[in-house]
Amino acid sequence: MIIVSGSSSRNLANDLAQRINLEHVRATSRKFPDGECYVRIEKEMIDEEVIIVQNSYPNDMLVELFLLQDATRNLGAKKIINVIPYFGYARQDKIFLKGEAISARVMAKHLDLEADKVITVDIHTPKIIEWFGKATAIDVHAAECIGKYFINDGIDLVLAPDQGASGRAKAVASVLGSTWDHLLKTRLSGTEVRITPSNVDARGKKVLIVDDIISTGGTIEAATRELRRLGAKAVYAACTHGLFIGGALERLRKSCDKIVATNTIEGEVSMISVAPAIAAALQ
Ligand code: R5P
Repeated sequence: MIIVSGSSSRNLANDLAQRINLEHVRATSRKFPDGECYVRIEKEMIDEEVIIVQNSYPNDMLVELFLLQDATRNLGAKKIINVIPYFGYARQDKIFLKGEAISARVMAKHLDLEADKVITVDIHTPKIIEWFGKATAIDVHAAECIGKYFINDGIDLVLAPDQGASGRAKAVASVLGSTWDHLLKTRLSGTEVRITPSNVDARGKKVLIVDDIISTGGTIEAATRELRRLGAKAVYAACTHGLFIGGALERLRKSCDKIVATNTIEGEVSMISVAPAIAAALQ
């Protein structure tokens, strides 16, 4: 078995390969002058199983992923395990307005065509996993990796920005041996959220906010404001998938005392590797 990485996930694939002692082949990827994607795996053949590590976001990475599935089959792979650290389009998981597509289901159905097993990390909605048909799909969680990263930071309280994310806060808190709670969030627009004033006991505490995705940063900014109002001593923020759209990282660096993400999306603050969680799921 070998690991093949596409261009979204070189570091994570490398870490994974070292942990489970497999060869890591970096697929060549480039663009044609018209913007179309090209991939090539420089191997004579692939025996039996291959693990492809590649995101399905943004669109070019999704196309690379489809091409890598085909390229590995063409080299003889009998079984394809797709590790999709950040599964894109997951937030359009239902019809919000008549006439829309269920984008997450479209992606699952099409990736399923050439996958035998799929591993995602903190997929936005667990029901997406059921939309894979023949492939066995599992979602692994980054909470333990996030908790271990902050183990020496003296975190007093782990907080979810909304009730739906409180399971993640609880899981991180159990690694840290700290308390956990959640705020109440209402989304006002794509970039704006309101955090309802709360009676969370944050006075004098070092608080870690955990979320699955940081996109525009609106959620973490609003949560941080509320925690400062409540008298928190320090506010740290961590997420699994750091998209950091439109200057979000710069803004959050000004409002939070520390901001970190996992390496499902590789970037400036992707300090936490989810390779241990993926390795456990593979073994
Ligand atoms: C929402 O359901 C997610 O869990 C995140 O809270 C959300 O995607 C964060 O988005 P933003 O950073 O744009 O507030």
